[in-house]
Amino acid sequence: MSCLVLGYLSCLVIVSGYQNGTSVRKINQFGDYDQTDNMSVEDWEYRWGKNQTQFHMNKVHPLASQGYEVIGCDCADKGCKEFFEENEIPYETSPIKGIDGTIYRATNDKKITLYKCDYFALNEYSKITTAMMKENSTYLLDCFLVDNDRFGGPPFNCTEKNVTSAFGSKWEVEKLETKDVFSKWQESWNIDSFFEEVYLLTKKS
Ligand SMILES: C[S@@+](CC[C@H](N)C(=O)[O-])C[C@H]1O[C@@H](n2cnc3c(N)ncnc32)[C@H](O)[C@@H]1O
Repeated sequence: MSCLVLGYLSCLVIVSGYQNGTSVRKINQFGDYDQTDNMSVEDWEYRWGKNQTQFHMNKVHPLASQGYEVIGCDCADKGCKEFFEENEIPYETSPIKGIDGTIYRATNDKKITLYKCDYFALNEYSKITTAMMKENSTYLLDCFLVDNDRFGGPPFNCTEKNVTSAFGSKWEVEKLETKDVFSKWQESWNIDSFFEEVYLLTKKS
């Protein structure tokens, strides 16, 4: 193993890797070089604990304000709690039956429920999503196009082909928008393009 010292932006970073196979450690979205390509629930909780949550967006609240019933899932207690507190939405908590986790439910007129648990403890992602939804339900899926050869993630590259192969048999897949969301933050990830793609999935009857 060799050690490289690279000047990047205004700071010096030490990158360790193998010269030969060009397997150099890639920066991750948290600004360090820890391995993040297979993050566990504990790894995410660790990042939430360190407030490394620049990814945090507030997309749920506007949907609920338009009268939609919103159901979300995050493995970090802090993520669920902060969502209600930041938006000043009163909530109650209760255990999830059968698995280790907590239900956070809004107690005002907003129909917002967040499940604090490991999504995969519920079931495989697309299967549980399909099972959870009623006929004619729609599901908003947010994906990114990102070069994970240069950047360690998360987020991870997810193409239309990936979405169709995961959901296409049971859902109509409509791409709503592709948006160039490259900013200074992504510049610091050593990539030069970053697109967000939003899909509307409608359950086939
Ligand atoms: C990139 S962030 C996106 C957060 C959210 N979409 C937002 O805009 O604030 C990924 C989130 O997924 C959560 N997460 C990761 N693995 C999970 C799992 N297995 N089950 C449930 N939540 C998970 C993390 O705690 C983190 O908050």
